[in-house]
Parts: sequence; C-alpha cells; structure tokens
Amino acid sequence: MEMQEKALVEKLDEAAGYLRGILGGIEPEIGLILGSGLGPFAETLEDAIFVPYADVPFMKTSSATSHVGRFVIGRSEGKWVICMQGRLHGYEGYSSQDVAFPVWMMHKLGVDTIIVTNAAGAINENYSVGDFCIMSDHINFTGRNPVAGMEPDQIAFRFFSMLDAYDRELRKIAKDEAISFGIPVQEGVYLGLLGPSFETPAEIRAFRSWGADTVAMSVCEEVIAARHVGMRVLGMSLCSNMACGVDGASPNDVEVLEVAEQRSHDFVLLMQAIIKRI
Ligand code: HPA
Repeated sequence: MEMQEKALVEKLDEAAGYLRGILGGIEPEIGLILGSGLGPFAETLEDAIFVPYADVPFMKTSSATSHVGRFVIGRSEGKWVICMQGRLHGYEGYSSQDVAFPVWMMHKLGVDTIIVTNAAGAINENYSVGDFCIMSDHINFTGRNPVAGMEPDQIAFRFFSMLDAYDRELRKIAKDEAISFGIPVQEGVYLGLLGPSFETPAEIRAFRSWGADTVAMSVCEEVIAARHVGMRVLGMSLCSNMACGVDGASPNDVEVLEVAEQRSHDFVLLMQAIIKRI
C-alpha cells in the first residue's frame, strides 16, 4: 500500500520543531524575506545561526541567482530576527503552498511581524532606479493563492479580509525612517506575477492603468499566507530598474543585481532603523 502523504499542518509542525531544536529557546519575533541582491542584510546579524533550507523537513530550496537558500537567525538592534536569505518563487516550479510554507512555519515559531523585500521594476514614471518603495497594497496577478485547497483551512480560517494587508503603522515607521536618513522612498501599489519572463511593454501599460506602481515575481503569495495567520506585514521593494518599455527600458537580471548591490548599504540602514522601532 502506498504511504499516505503527511498533512500540511503536520509538515509545518515538523519543520518548526526542527528549527526549535536548533534554536534552543531563542524565539525570533520578526521575520524578514530578503529578495534579489538584498541577502547581505543577513550577514549583519549578531550571534547568527545558519540553517540551510535543505536541512529543514519539507522545505524547498532556492535556485535563483543570489538567493542563498538558508535561514539566518540572529540579533538586530537587540531583537531576535529570522531572515530568509533567498526566497522560493513560483517560477522555480514551486506550488503556491511551497512558497507559503516558510511563512506559515515562521508564524509557528512565534514570529508575529514579517518584512517582505524584493527588487522590482518601476511602472510609475515618477519613480527612479534606486528608490525604495513601501508597498501600500498589492495586485496578485500570479493566478495563484496559497490558501486555496482543503489543507490551509486547517491552519486558519480561509475567508479573511485583505484590507490594510500592509500594516499602516509599519508603513509610517518605514517612511519616517527613510526620510530621516535622506533615503529616496516612494509608497505605492505592487503587482506580483509568476514570471520568469519579464513583462511586455503592453502589459506594463495595462498594469499602470490598473494603478500598479511596481512589478516583480514574488511577495503576493507570501503576504496572503502571512495575513491568513494574522501576521503584521511590511513590504519594501527596491526599484532596481524601470519596467519594460518605460523610457525604452529592457530589464535583465544582471542589472537588477547590480543596482541591489549599490543600494545594499542604505537597505541595511533602513531595515535596522525599522526593526529598532517594531
Ligand atoms: N519585472 C519583474 N520582476 C522584476 C523586475 C521587473 O522589471 N525587476 C526586478 N524584478
């Protein structure tokens, strides 16, 4: 007889239990998902503990360039945080629930606030390459939702509101801190796609007419999972490029990583200042 596959809730318990065993009483309160080129923040943590995704039961691993694929748990501004140094993307062939798995797992570890970050293309013509953009809301255009299916309903109730999914207080903190450092910051609507091809100019024009300011290939599914279990969310993009067709732009992954590297110092400053105030 075929072995029955474990239920999602059991897999999450096992994964969280594995990490708890390594952490020995340390309880991270803030989770960060570090996007393309933004992983170096994890190296600023004190007393860091590194746990490769491949070691965690039922967790998938990152294959994307610059996504290291490990949890880094450590202290920042005196607070215990857990970073995902590299994320899981739908375009790697992972299901929506695979992408959401570490978010639900971090919640089980006691994380109640999550900061999701990424590199994104700027659709809004008033934005510049190198600007940070606080997510005020999102348009999930991946065509997927991690809470769809029978199992996520066992984690938490499936019909939840997405009003103010991006926490107003956290957005204000992020904006105040960026302004106080003189870091260029925008606040806008993020549109998430499956990828991995970049968008066409016609798509970008259509997304602009829908009210989207930035676009990339992550975040929405993670944020839906986080809201599903009631976590507070802050979303922060780095505008690594103008979106396809804007001023003749034609995005590529090398440019994305180069800009992220150039802006990495400001990113670290900003994250630390925000963490201090959470
Ligand atoms: N489009 C989609 N994803 C991205 C982009 C973009 O322009 N830049 C960084 N990630």
